Amino acid sequence: MTAFDLEAFARLQARPSEIFRRPVRPLPPPPPIRYSAAPCVPLPIGRPRTLAAVRYPRARPAAPTGLDGLADLLTSALGFQRYEPANNYNAHRAYPSAQSLFPVEAFVVRGPRAWHYDAARHALRPVGETADGDPAGAGAMIAVLGRPGQLPDYYRELRWALTLCEAGHAVQATAAVAQALGYAAGVHTDFDDAALLSAIGAGPADGWLPAALIGPLSTPPADSSTRIGSAPSGGVPLPDDTVLAEDPVLHADRLAWPASHSLGSDDPGSDPRPKAGSDAASEMGDETGASWDHVLFTRSAGHSRGGFTASPATLPRQALTSALAACRHAARQDWSGLGVRLCLAVERVEALADGLYAWSPEAGDLTLLAPGAHLGAVQSAYLYPSTVMRVDTCNVAIMFLADYPSLIGSHGARGLRLSQLAVGALAQAAGLAMAAHGAFLRPARSFDPDRLGELADAKDGETVAYLALCGQARLDDLLLDLRV
Ligand SMILES: Cc1cc2nc3c(=O)[nH]c(=O)nc-3n(C[C@H](O)[C@H](O)[C@H](O)COP(=O)(O)O)c2cc1C
Repeated sequence: MTAFDLEAFARLQARPSEIFRRPVRPLPPPPPIRYSAAPCVPLPIGRPRTLAAVRYPRARPAAPTGLDGLADLLTSALGFQRYEPANNYNAHRAYPSAQSLFPVEAFVVRGPRAWHYDAARHALRPVGETADGDPAGAGAMIAVLGRPGQLPDYYRELRWALTLCEAGHAVQATAAVAQALGYAAGVHTDFDDAALLSAIGAGPADGWLPAALIGPLSTPPADSSTRIGSAPSGGVPLPDDTVLAEDPVLHADRLAWPASHSLGSDDPGSDPRPKAGSDAASEMGDETGASWDHVLFTRSAGHSRGGFTASPATLPRQALTSALAACRHAARQDWSGLGVRLCLAVERVEALADGLYAWSPEAGDLTLLAPGAHLGAVQSAYLYPSTVMRVDTCNVAIMFLADYPSLIGSHGARGLRLSQLAVGALAQAAGLAMAAHGAFLRPARSFDPDRLGELADAKDGETVAYLALCGQARLDDLLLDLRV
């Protein structure tokens, strides 16, 4: 197993054009979700829309309780929002998904009991050994896991990146909505993978990629007996080399397992991270005119009709300021110490000169690297031609840079997993802020990281891990409301 070269995997997954040149290798189908025989828990319908009364980025002072609160959180953050008849890809949630294939699932976990959030059935379905219990009881956590087998085989190693980036979006959406609802929930990434898999009834060779836990969702301190950490650590053995040899995606992620700790030590009472409420909201900037409900419903990667062009209009400066504030807040709260930094190509943004700018969550404002228009250079690194995707009609291209070798050096294999979750989460934070200002954010992996790296003046070891194109819609589309 140690012969597996993590740095080589990191290099390859970053380069879609190299991946797509290699033959497609059929991979095992995704594992089934192992439902138990216990009855499913229907989520309430016709609830009052709590987040319609909360302006982005503010938060409610106290969270709703019981199953109503859990339903608010799950459906707002992770449920279906809309269907766009003119779009090639449907449906749409509060977070993006490559081709809307949704290779990410969420579970409510309370100690050894777990329920799958089945968005289509609007229900919580018991999994594994779960026979009874209240999913909304004390200490409930939301677990987000990737299922790369949901993506087509031709993505090969890119399945790992697409799944984990999307998981980062889903984790951030869940944490942001939990905090807006008034829960004192944090994001936990250093938990015991084996205990989580055991709770959802998954086998060691089932192709899940554990991403993060969000919680606890109860306002009072959680009862430690309900934590995942109370399940025996290492209860699920690692799959053997034969299984892993078949699939480099699983191999890369399974190397991340031994670095994990038990969640039992994660005492929410002593969590140093900022909590929900006025402090967090003020770091994210001024109240907007948009409600959270509206932001989650309209969050978009930009409407496309076969091809994609944005409006040539100027982007209000406040949209970019708000996106960077949200990004900084998310980075400081949940994704610090990973060294992810941003380079932005900016054109037609109010009160900001066109140019290439550097930005990092730790440093202050934007630093001008080179004046002038650079979206044309982003277009030339994009894998679709301008006849399919007009990058230069956008206002901002955000390039997320990560240093894979040093992440592996400092955090082991876990660092590689965290890098993908972090860039997805930061892009999600920025995308929700853009939606509050009527703009879209389209995340992408279909680019040449070496050409973009030259543009972004990437340092030795750094790779452009993710790209987010931001702009304003050119067309008004029919949106069918799928909210329950
Ligand atoms: C990890 C990830 C990678 C993506 N890569 C691309 C891409 O390379 N090119 C692209 O046009 N869109 C890309 N998207 C955006 C999706 O196509 C978009 O989210 C999807 O069509 C659903 O639209 P919506 O975000 O408006 O709901 C990506 C999304 C995610 C989460």
